[in-house]
Amino acid sequence: MPLSTVSTAPTAHEASYTDLDALRRQDPELADVLIAEAARQAEGLQLVAAENFTSPAVLTALGSPLANKYAEGYPGARHHGGCELVDIAERIAVDRAKALFGAEHANVQAHSGSSAVLAAYAALLRPGDTVLAMGLPYGGHLTHGSPANFSGRWFDFVGYGVDAESGLIDYDQVHTLARSHRPKAIVCGSISYPRHIDYAAFREIADDVGAYLIADAAHPMGLVAGGAAPNPVPHADVVCATTHKVLRGPRGGLLLCGADLAERIDRAVFPFTQGGAQMHTIAAKAVAFGEAAAPAFTAYAHQVVANARTLAQGLAAAGFAVTTEGTDTHLVLADPAPLGVEAHTARGRLAAAGIVLDTCALPHGEARGLRLGSAAVTTQGMTAPEMARIAGLMADAVRDAAEIPNVREEVRELAGRFPPYPG
Ligand SMILES: Cc1ncc(COP(=O)(O)O)c(C=O)c1O
Repeated sequence: MPLSTVSTAPTAHEASYTDLDALRRQDPELADVLIAEAARQAEGLQLVAAENFTSPAVLTALGSPLANKYAEGYPGARHHGGCELVDIAERIAVDRAKALFGAEHANVQAHSGSSAVLAAYAALLRPGDTVLAMGLPYGGHLTHGSPANFSGRWFDFVGYGVDAESGLIDYDQVHTLARSHRPKAIVCGSISYPRHIDYAAFREIADDVGAYLIADAAHPMGLVAGGAAPNPVPHADVVCATTHKVLRGPRGGLLLCGADLAERIDRAVFPFTQGGAQMHTIAAKAVAFGEAAAPAFTAYAHQVVANARTLAQGLAAAGFAVTTEGTDTHLVLADPAPLGVEAHTARGRLAAAGIVLDTCALPHGEARGLRLGSAAVTTQGMTAPEMARIAGLMADAVRDAAEIPNVREEVRELAGRFPPYPG
């Protein structure tokens, strides 16, 4: 159905379907949770590396009646009636993703980053195959071989690490492991590696041993969209990503590949690992890809990196041990041990001060570190002066629990000047 045949003029159908007042009247208990969460996000500093603030346009698509639509299959070949309009939304999302990342094929249906990785494995591997991926103690994701995850149970994972001194991927070690284990696939990507990944080096290693190369670029994909990080698409057989994180879209997954693997990837998503596509999320992905193609997003992505670097410098100056001595991305991994506090205590003190972030495995030893990201605070419009201040506030709260109430007040004041959704 061409859009010109349906009414897109403002009509009663535009009645506000995301009406908070209506929710408050119908279900005050739940409305209170939504409102309190919005306040929590706005009144603190959101440094969880995987989080961001999506635009009101993305939230509008997510809260739209497309959420009602069942759409198993792909545009033009659905197992349900009435898919003409959501087909348009999915085609727009696919076309925008292909253009944004220079890929021959895009699948926008994966419900999450983990679903995208599952589909990539389903397309390329058989249970029992050997896969070489970053070990979880060094920053590999659950889907890279955790025994608690399908990946560790169904495949034979071999883990590579990072150099103990520098914290950097040791490409020679990856090559040696690839030669001795002859994996069917090599995975490059991490939840905490703060540096650019050398996709060409991984491609060479994969070619040398006849392995597929899967890039799990969930974290840097937004930087790739904004031209602030290298693009894995020309090097990897399949690229998996999330559409949230720096990319600033809805929670969801994305797969990119060449035309040769397109059908296998599509079938691995539906019907192999998923059922009906979530059309409201796919529409929201399309909105986010449109936003990421605009010049403002290029500036945003570069500011994300600049902010992370300033944060890393500030933390190092305040006494934290910053892994790899800095960052190329939105991610900073910092050990609070030199301040005399271990990571869980540090995270608790920071949370009490309104600074929200994660702990994460450090690349060497048993201790954990703090993992933080600059995507959300950059969306709020913060730049270098605010990053320097955040590093100082973090040091104050971590060093001395008695300082937490003062830091909480300063965090509230700082965040209040940069509302994520200005009215
Ligand atoms: C490298 C990597 N892969 C996969 C995922 C999984 O994404 P999701 O939580 O959407 O399943 C993440 C999420 O943080 C990730 O960092």
